[in-house]
Amino acid sequence: MINNGHLLLIFQRLQAIHADWMLENTHNNGEANMIKQTSVFQGDITQLQVDAIVNAAKNSLLGGGGVDGAIHRAAGPELLAECRQLNGCATGEAKITKGYQLRAKWVIHTVGPIWYGGNQGEDEMLAKCYRNSLAVAEQYQIKSIAFPAISTGVYGFPMERASKIAITEVNKFLHSHQSIEQVIFVCFGQSAYDCYLKVIRELT
Ligand code: APR
Repeated sequence: MINNGHLLLIFQRLQAIHADWMLENTHNNGEANMIKQTSVFQGDITQLQVDAIVNAAKNSLLGGGGVDGAIHRAAGPELLAECRQLNGCATGEAKITKGYQLRAKWVIHTVGPIWYGGNQGEDEMLAKCYRNSLAVAEQYQIKSIAFPAISTGVYGFPMERASKIAITEVNKFLHSHQSIEQVIFVCFGQSAYDCYLKVIRELT
C-alpha cells in the first residue's frame, strides 16, 4: 500500500531527479489503492537510488561500452564475477544480479535487438526486453525500477520508435500487474529526453 507519506519519501529519495512527466494509475485491488508513477529522467542511470536498474547488455553479459560499461564500472568487479556465472542471456530475455557498489540493490540485464532496418522482428524483440525485465522485477518484489533506452546506442535502434515501444510496454505492464510502483525512463542527453517527452505527449 502506498499513501501520501510514502510518495513524499519517494520524492525525497529521488530529489536529484527532474521528473517532467508523471503518470498516475490508480489500481483498486480490493484492499488498497496503489498509485503508480512513471517518470522521465535525464542523466546517468548508475546514480539512481532505486531497487533495480536495467542494463542494456550484450549476449555474453560480460560487459561492454555505453550504459553496460558505466554500470560495470560503478558496480565494481563483483558484478562481472556474478555475470560470468549466468551463461549469457538470449536477446529479449532478462537476468538479474546484485547491484554491489551501485545505489540500486539489483541490476536486471537484458539484451536488446540490433537494428537491421526494422523488418527483422526488432520491435517485438525490444518489447520483450521490457516485458521480461518487468517480469523479473516482479519476481524479486522490486518496487522501483529504472530503464535506459535499450538498443538505441551501439545497437542503432531509432530513438523515437524505441521510446514508443518502451512507454507502451511499461504502461501495459503497470495496468495489468500490481507489484511495481515506480518506473523511471532514463535518457542520456537532451535529444533522448526531448524525444521521450514528445512521444509521451503523443501517447497520452
Ligand atoms: N545512463 C543512462 N543511459 C546511458 C548511459 C548511462 N550512464 N550511457 C549510455 N546511455 C544510453 C545511450 O545514450 C543509449 O541511448 O543508453 C542507451 C543504450 O545505448 P548502449 O549502451 O549503446 O546500448 P545498446 O544500444 O542496447 O547496445 C548494447 O552496447 O556496450 C554495448 O555491451 C553492450 O554490446 C552491448 C551493446
